[in-house]
Amino acid sequence: MSAESNIPVIAIDGPTASGKGTVAQMVSAALGFHYLDSGSLYRLAGLAASKRGVALDDETAVAEVARHLDIRFSGNDVFLDNQNVTEDIRSETSSQNASRVAALPAVRTALTDRQRAFRQAPGLVADGRDMGSVIFPDAQLKVFLTASVEARAQRRTNQLKSKGNSAILVDVVKELRIRDERDSNRPVAPLKKLDDAYLLDTTAISADEAASKVLAWFKGQV
Ligand code: CDP
Repeated sequence: MSAESNIPVIAIDGPTASGKGTVAQMVSAALGFHYLDSGSLYRLAGLAASKRGVALDDETAVAEVARHLDIRFSGNDVFLDNQNVTEDIRSETSSQNASRVAALPAVRTALTDRQRAFRQAPGLVADGRDMGSVIFPDAQLKVFLTASVEARAQRRTNQLKSKGNSAILVDVVKELRIRDERDSNRPVAPLKKLDDAYLLDTTAISADEAASKVLAWFKGQV
């Protein structure tokens, strides 16, 4: 066993707006673990490629950009080439661009080591689409967090509005379905529940309750 594989990982995968980011952050704070928001790396790769005028379907060129991303996380802020892009990477355009570049196998490979480097003592909570399947297949706990399309769309709408963006529920539902469809049907690392993952449906429970459930599962195992 390598030294890294002794460091516990909790993989929380699931579709957009399922609450996995919020829950993963709560769990990591409760345990004092590191946190990996893997989606932000795909968002940054999409944004960096756009800024450099690289076509988002040019797999080799986008992978090259992804491999050399100059990024820094500082608290809740994210920097790309020393510019604060925290808001930029959360826009709907960035979401769709992230999902497009994430479908390219070479881009996923380019980001693999960067994601694994987050596995540091005392442990890691990683959220994404393929944390349990590809990046940390030996994770101590795998959770597939989901919720109904309606609940997810409502959450995303509230989130956008709270940040002062205009958001119409029917448009959000449409965009969410496009991303779900693309993320679930791509040949590499598609979004799906693994057999060894615990299913957690958050349609009718709060983020606090979901985090407590994940912590109970984790504590029951170690
Ligand atoms: O928060 P939300 O789930 O809406 O987005 P995200 O986690 O930031 O991910 C943005 C996009 O990146 C997703 O639609 C996926 O296409 C892609 N992604 C991925 O393919 N694999 C990951 N581990 C994380 C994100």
